[in-house]
Amino acid sequence: MKKNIESVLTESRVFAPPPAFVAEARLKAHDLTALHQRAAADPQNFWAELARTEIAWHTPFTVTLDDRAAPNFRWFTDGELNVSYNCLDLQLAQNADQLAIIFEGEPGDVRTLTYRELHADVCRFANALKARGIRRGDRVVIYMPLVPEAVVAMQACARIGAIHSVVFGGFSALSLKERIEDAGARCVITADGGHRGGNIVELKAATDKALTEGCASVDTVYVLRRTGATVPMQLGRDLWWHEAIEGQAEVCEPEWVDAEHPLFLLYTSGSTGRPKGIQHSSAGYLLGAKLTSRWVFDLRSDDVLWCTADVGWITGHSYVAYGPLAAGATLVMYEGAPTYPDGGRFWRICGQHGVTVFYTAPTAIRALMKLGDELPAKYDLSKIRLLGSVGEPINPEAWMWYHRVIGGGRCPIVDTWWQTETGAIMISPIPGVTSTKPGSCTQPLPGIFADIVDDEGRSVTMPDAGGYLVIRKPWPSMLRTIWGDNDRYLETYWKKFQHRLYVAGDSAHRDADGCFWIMGRIDDVLNVAGHRLGTMEIESALVAHPRIAEAAVVSRQHEIKGESVFAFVVCRGARPTGDTKEFEKELRDWVAEQLGAIAKPDDIRFADNLPKTRSGKIMRRLLRAIARGETITQDVSTLENPAIIEQLRGH
Ligand code: WT7
Repeated sequence: MKKNIESVLTESRVFAPPPAFVAEARLKAHDLTALHQRAAADPQNFWAELARTEIAWHTPFTVTLDDRAAPNFRWFTDGELNVSYNCLDLQLAQNADQLAIIFEGEPGDVRTLTYRELHADVCRFANALKARGIRRGDRVVIYMPLVPEAVVAMQACARIGAIHSVVFGGFSALSLKERIEDAGARCVITADGGHRGGNIVELKAATDKALTEGCASVDTVYVLRRTGATVPMQLGRDLWWHEAIEGQAEVCEPEWVDAEHPLFLLYTSGSTGRPKGIQHSSAGYLLGAKLTSRWVFDLRSDDVLWCTADVGWITGHSYVAYGPLAAGATLVMYEGAPTYPDGGRFWRICGQHGVTVFYTAPTAIRALMKLGDELPAKYDLSKIRLLGSVGEPINPEAWMWYHRVIGGGRCPIVDTWWQTETGAIMISPIPGVTSTKPGSCTQPLPGIFADIVDDEGRSVTMPDAGGYLVIRKPWPSMLRTIWGDNDRYLETYWKKFQHRLYVAGDSAHRDADGCFWIMGRIDDVLNVAGHRLGTMEIESALVAHPRIAEAAVVSRQHEIKGESVFAFVVCRGARPTGDTKEFEKELRDWVAEQLGAIAKPDDIRFADNLPKTRSGKIMRRLLRAIARGETITQDVSTLENPAIIEQLRGH
């Protein structure tokens, strides 16, 4: 976002943590200093001590970091634990009757679960999985609406040592199939549907489609009754959730697994090829999710945290399904769209359920900001004490609105930088300590050695000079590998700097105070409404259409979504001219069908051919400049067909 880059470079407002917040904060300035000092003095021992105090081990570990196969790092290797035990059983002793989940469905149904009830539900479902023969190491794909049972399913997998892979309910049947097959899953957990924007998302229908077209590994499908719609059930394969848990015991001895046992896979887009299954560990991941929930969200047992992310994304793993439960807080889950039935829905939920910590994405903030200040003013937001932002750079204008209108000027804002791969928040203010600047994620957390480097891997120390965002030392919640493709793991994250630095794929700069400002991706990855999309995936989807010969996808800046998809396409036969609206819609729907609605191009431009160098490479930077309406600074003299530029511009 060019506009954002300009405004952040001139942004000079600094917000010290509000004194009232500081007085109550869990982590004070001296605590943070001590943590940083301990981490700097002996990083491994720093993590070992935290792992000992924060995790309940079945068998304590003696090895902190095994780096023999670096950069395939392994943490706490000889320890044994169970993640679900750490999230649920630990609470039973003291906080059994505290609310774990407050759920609101889009139609308005509200349901609450105490830790005792959640524990019982998880055990019953875990027993159902076991009864069906699902066990340690089996892969289970979860394709559900954002309802408590999604968390129950994840926790139940963790309880028996099965590896879950949640697929966002907005993804298409084809995307689901691709992920099931890559993971080799034997079980899918879905629902008859979910509610979204007043419509029904037909999850079971998509599951059936995926399974008809492939997925030979799947022998079991659990179906949660959510909407009550009639769905076909395949005898022997499909089981109703409510029937499967009938008569199952409310206790289930946790399966003790190695620290490195994979807790889950989560597919995310890269610049090339198919989505990659990011593999996370059990102990290291749990440690990261739990610690950051406490450090960054300042969570106490009386807090009501609402992280609006779906469990289909990493944010919904770390700050819905795992971190807040491990930290013993209460979480709010909401099934539906932010603007259903109107743009006041989020704020009404905050007021009604007494939300104290609210964590969402800039795209939602911008969309709701556009609707004006009157809507939030109608609801009681006085309980909110902390606000968070994640997923993409937040522009200072949206930050200020969030601060003023939602936070009433009294709440710190934590702008948290991290990734599917990092497992937990990496760069973020500590709300009771760090002074914030609109648009900056400020400083790395203790134990996270983030840096900005040039092409040779040298630290860029000059203020405001850009470079690659890297992490210099391994950290416990880091990804372990890409499922089934360790070469791609090495190539994507480590090759650039000879396996010495983890390359995040973002560019960033640091100001004179040492605050980090994320500038965006350096690869061909788009960030649309906080969701990662690979240009190549969308291009492949487009060329799969019978009338499309070639496609190139770039992004342009978008007022609400941050970035939107801009596709240049070359048709088989003549270029469509005149009114192309119908055909554009057909292509958009086609992409939605192939990938999911979030990948739909906002702009489609037809051309006779694409700008290529004489060696045949598509000139993406040129296309990006055209899509963004920028003046072209690239050297176009190497273009095979310079005349094409006018046509690409839409003239
Ligand atoms: C990419 C990771 C981490 C959960 C959500 C997205 C961008 C993330 C920020 C932020 C600027 C951010 C980066 C990153 N990003 N948080 N606070 N400021 N950019 O997870 O799909 O794995 O995407 O999102 O580009 O690399 P993800």
